[in-house]
Amino acid sequence: MSTLTILHKLRLKKSATKEKMIRFYDEATEDYKFWSADFNMHFGYYIPFKTNILKRDSMLNEMNQQVFNRLQIPKQNSLVADLGCGIGGTMQYGLKKYPLLHIIGVTLSSFQVKEGNKRLKQKNGLILEENYCNTSFKTDSVDGAYAIESFCHSGHNKKALQEAYRILKSGSKLVIADAFLKKDEEQLCIGSNYCYEQLCNGWSLKGLESIKNIEKNLNQIGFKSITIEDISYRVAPSVLHVPIAITGFILKKIFRKEPLKPQSQKNLKGSLFALLSGLHTKSFGYYLITAEK
Ligand SMILES: C[S@@+](CC[C@H](N)C(=O)[O-])C[C@H]1O[C@@H](n2cnc3c(N)ncnc32)[C@H](O)[C@@H]1O
Repeated sequence: MSTLTILHKLRLKKSATKEKMIRFYDEATEDYKFWSADFNMHFGYYIPFKTNILKRDSMLNEMNQQVFNRLQIPKQNSLVADLGCGIGGTMQYGLKKYPLLHIIGVTLSSFQVKEGNKRLKQKNGLILEENYCNTSFKTDSVDGAYAIESFCHSGHNKKALQEAYRILKSGSKLVIADAFLKKDEEQLCIGSNYCYEQLCNGWSLKGLESIKNIEKNLNQIGFKSITIEDISYRVAPSVLHVPIAITGFILKKIFRKEPLKPQSQKNLKGSLFALLSGLHTKSFGYYLITAEK
């Protein structure tokens, strides 16, 4: 057995189960306040002279805007699904900008449901504790759906894509913002493979699909007009904020004499290896994918 095959098997053994992922978000969601005052649990989108490279949330919120732009939905009375919504950062952004939209988010973390819904009071948004592979949305019922850094928890598997296809109305769009592999897992060099293993372990990810396979799967499911944009260079400035955020977070804990919870340690590890993976530009890329039903 080659070293890479052994590493791959080890990664599968150690990486995400649903229970681990739920524990991770139930305990570590609060840490994200340090990453984003607006509770965006994702990376950002940098546009020179529009977003401020020093202000993380201006880039993180621009990612939200880029996703809404690609959904191309009427901004009144449309129903949008946020598949893996975190604590509702993107929902808040969308509802502030387009108050007449209706957005329903799903997440498996009960902490996120409780805290997210508190923040959504008086707004057209609701968070449900549901699996994005099997939601209670009716078939052909939503005008748009998006998944920001959430399908990676299921390895971008086909079930999640099929469920998105099922709930979308004909002609409406799914937008995915996430990291993908540029090659097959088996082709990763030993350094990339190590970073990948640590990233999946830290952030409780099942894995990242290759960009070639995700396109194939979307096609097979029936999606059309699939657009794949490599936005790695737009995302990079926010990824470079990781060391600053990690250092600040640890210093705050030391200053307040608070212990680092196990899930916070995992989060810090995931964040660090996201940065290191990002340096392996031949292996990993960050993409915006738009696909129409
Ligand atoms: C990195 S967070 C991103 C949250 C949000 N999209 C954002 O950008 O702020 C990943 C989210 O995916 C959710 N998630 C992961 N697997 C899920 C599943 N099978 N069903 C529903 N939500 C899931 C987690 O609970 C978490 O809320």
